[in-house]
Amino acid sequence: MIKQAIIPLAGLGTRMLPLTSVMPKELMPINGKPNLEYILEECVEAGIKEFIFIISEEKSLIKKYFFNDKFYEKIIKKKKDKRIKKEFSKIKKYQKMIKFVYQNKPKGTGDAVLKCKKLIKGDYFLMLLADDLIINKNCSKEMIKLHKLKKSSVIATKKVEKKAVSRWGILSIKNKKKNYFQINDVVEKPSIKNAPSNFAIIGRYILPKKIFYEINKLKPGQGGEIHITDAIRNLIHKKNKFFGNIFKGRYLDCGTLKGYINSGAEIYKGKK
Ligand code: G1P
Repeated sequence: MIKQAIIPLAGLGTRMLPLTSVMPKELMPINGKPNLEYILEECVEAGIKEFIFIISEEKSLIKKYFFNDKFYEKIIKKKKDKRIKKEFSKIKKYQKMIKFVYQNKPKGTGDAVLKCKKLIKGDYFLMLLADDLIINKNCSKEMIKLHKLKKSSVIATKKVEKKAVSRWGILSIKNKKKNYFQINDVVEKPSIKNAPSNFAIIGRYILPKKIFYEINKLKPGQGGEIHITDAIRNLIHKKNKFFGNIFKGRYLDCGTLKGYINSGAEIYKGKK
C-alpha cells in the first residue's frame, strides 16, 4: 500500500520571477487556492496518509501557510466567518499529515528525494512535482491501481508535441497497451533528434525504496544537478520494471508564467 507522498518544494522558481522573489510558486493561488493544495487533494483522494515536504529556509512561507494557528484562532474568535473556519479545519487536517525535511541548496530532484530516505516506511512511495497539475481525473489514483496490478514502479506520462520534447524527461517504450506501457529507457530533456519517443514524464512517480541507493551513487548530471531521472535510468538498466501510466486527466504545466496563467483560466472554465 502506498501511504506516503514526497513533494519537493525547495526549487527557486526562477521561471516565475519576479513573483517568486517574494512568494513560493507553490503557494501562488489558482482560482483562489494555492497550487499546492490541488496536489494535496489529489493525494488524499488517492489514499495518501502522510506528506513529506522538502523545503528550504527561503521557502519557510510554505510552513507558515500550514502552521499559522495563532493567527487563525484570533481571527476566528473575532469574525464568525464560516468559510475561514472551514479552511482552518482543512489546514488542521493537513497539519497532522505533513512532515518537513530541508534541502537548503537546490541540487536537483534526486538530491531532494534522498533527503527523505530515513522517513520512508514502505517499499514504494509516491513523488509529485507541484508544477504539474492534472485535473478532471485523479492521476495518482490511476497510478496506484497500475502499481498494484504490476507490483512495479510507475511514472505518469503523456504524449507531447515532438518539437517540444527538450522540455521534459522522455521515455523509450515497449509493449504498449491502451493506457500504459513498459519503460525501456529514459532520457532527461533530449534534443528532437535524440528523443526516443514523444511520451514525456509528467510529475508523478511511484518509486521503490531502493532508489535511494542509486541516487547516492549519482554524480551531478545536466546543469550540475542530481536528477531523479538518472537514478530511474540506472534502475531500469538493472532490470527493475517501470511502467508509464498514460493518464486520462488534463495536464496543466504551472512551472512557467504562461502555463500558470493558462492553468487559472482552464480551472475557472471547468468550474463554471
Ligand atoms: C522535471 C523532470 C523531468 C520531467 C518534468 C515534468 O523537470 O526533471 O524529467 O519531465 O519535471 O514537469 P523540471 O520541470 O524540473 O525542469
